[in-house]
Amino acid sequence: MHANRALVTDAEKQRLTNFNNWHAKGLNFLREALDADEGCADVQQKREIIKLYEKAIVAFESGLRSVPKAVPAGSKVEVQSRMQVMQKHLDGSRDRIAKLRKDLIQSSTDEIVRNLQNSKPRSVSEASTSAKKTGVAALFATKEEQEILGCIVGSTNIGLDDVLGNDAAKLALEESVILPAVNPSLFTGLRTPTKGILLFGPPGNGKTMLAKAVANEAGCTFFNISAATIMSKWVGQGEKMMRELFRVARAKQPSIIFIDEVDSMLCTRTDDEGAGASRRVITEFLLQFDGVTSDVSDRVLVLGATNRPFDLDDGVLRRFPRRIFIDLPDARAREHLILHNFKNTNTRHQISSMQLKEAARFTQGYSYSDLTALCREAAMVPLRGISRTKLRSATARDIRPVQYEDLVKAMDIIKPSTTPTNLYKLHAFAKDFAQV
Ligand SMILES: Nc1ncnc2c1ncn2[C@@H]1O[C@H](COP(=O)(O)OP(=O)(O)OP(=O)(O)O)[C@@H](O)[C@H]1O
Ligand SMILES: [Mg+2]
Repeated sequence: MHANRALVTDAEKQRLTNFNNWHAKGLNFLREALDADEGCADVQQKREIIKLYEKAIVAFESGLRSVPKAVPAGSKVEVQSRMQVMQKHLDGSRDRIAKLRKDLIQSSTDEIVRNLQNSKPRSVSEASTSAKKTGVAALFATKEEQEILGCIVGSTNIGLDDVLGNDAAKLALEESVILPAVNPSLFTGLRTPTKGILLFGPPGNGKTMLAKAVANEAGCTFFNISAATIMSKWVGQGEKMMRELFRVARAKQPSIIFIDEVDSMLCTRTDDEGAGASRRVITEFLLQFDGVTSDVSDRVLVLGATNRPFDLDDGVLRRFPRRIFIDLPDARAREHLILHNFKNTNTRHQISSMQLKEAARFTQGYSYSDLTALCREAAMVPLRGISRTKLRSATARDIRPVQYEDLVKAMDIIKPSTTPTNLYKLHAFAKDFAQV
């Protein structure tokens, strides 16, 4: 930040005004949120409180984005202290929202349990059978209901910040899922969010992780179903399950139906009967999907993930107008992840920043999960020089720190899991059909 008065242009003065306004707005929302939050147990009120925290976050984020590059000398200290305050409140508000959402998702799951239980009067014999079972699942009369309940993920404990890299994807998801969920009044008309989003890219780069993080941050009821489950477990009663799934999702909106491995929806069965059944499930899925898409007021989002988007048939692809490419990490992200893996697990290492850069260069083509596997393997190398008897009583302190050479050795064992051909196909698909 330059203190020189001569450098403070009108544009910078405007930025300073905006910065101060966002700071004040953020504090106002935060005050309101804190007042309402004190001792609040009401579910509806908690949703409102989350919105207030969200508004404070939006204001603080906007403030931090409009920090002026040059300010009059007298305002420099104040700007810096406001930046610190905003960052502190930003972190505090995010933590609080995560906690509130966890509570909400829990109570929303409890409510579904109660609703479904009340809406289905059961016969005496059914009731007595279920009475013998224990736990939540026992409250459900039909298998379908139990299955649907099994698809609801309470809280995933994964935040967007846990997913490293993928900044463009995070931004897109924030804009099209999280913000509309927390502030629906703003996202109407032309800004109505998309109902179908497809995450695609090579395996092990955080597609599933991102979906779970979104669920956590958006505070929606999150149905996690894998296409393989639909095809295998639900065959025979699949269409019914599909209808039930969308019915519950609508009743519990805002909700997200996450379908992992969408490509396996296309798996064709060898026997005719099976093929017909899975085709009917897909047709029902597409029908239901169109149902939620055509009703503007429905707040049900279908989030798909696949690593073979080019295998999707046009019908399925058309339902996901927004397609986001989750690519392999670039060199900087690889460097960051390697370091993160050691730091996060408190594993001692002696790898200089030059060596880290070198390792990042050598690991081109590795996915996030390949890199995690690589770090695990490298961490095992120092143990291999120690005798079995010693290992029985050794503590972490007795083991030498992991070195660059260990990473290199591990590279012989852990190789990239994505083939160049597959990567080429994914890039070609991304270029033609998606947001990169
Ligand atoms: N961006 C990331 N940041 C941190 N860890 C990651 C990231 N991507 C992947 N990982 C690690 O790899 C594991 C697998 O990631 P995930 O299941 O999200 O991959 P995916 O893209 O869904 O793969 P697939 O296509 O095989 O389903 C995660 O549990 C996590 O440990
Ligand atoms: Mg996955």
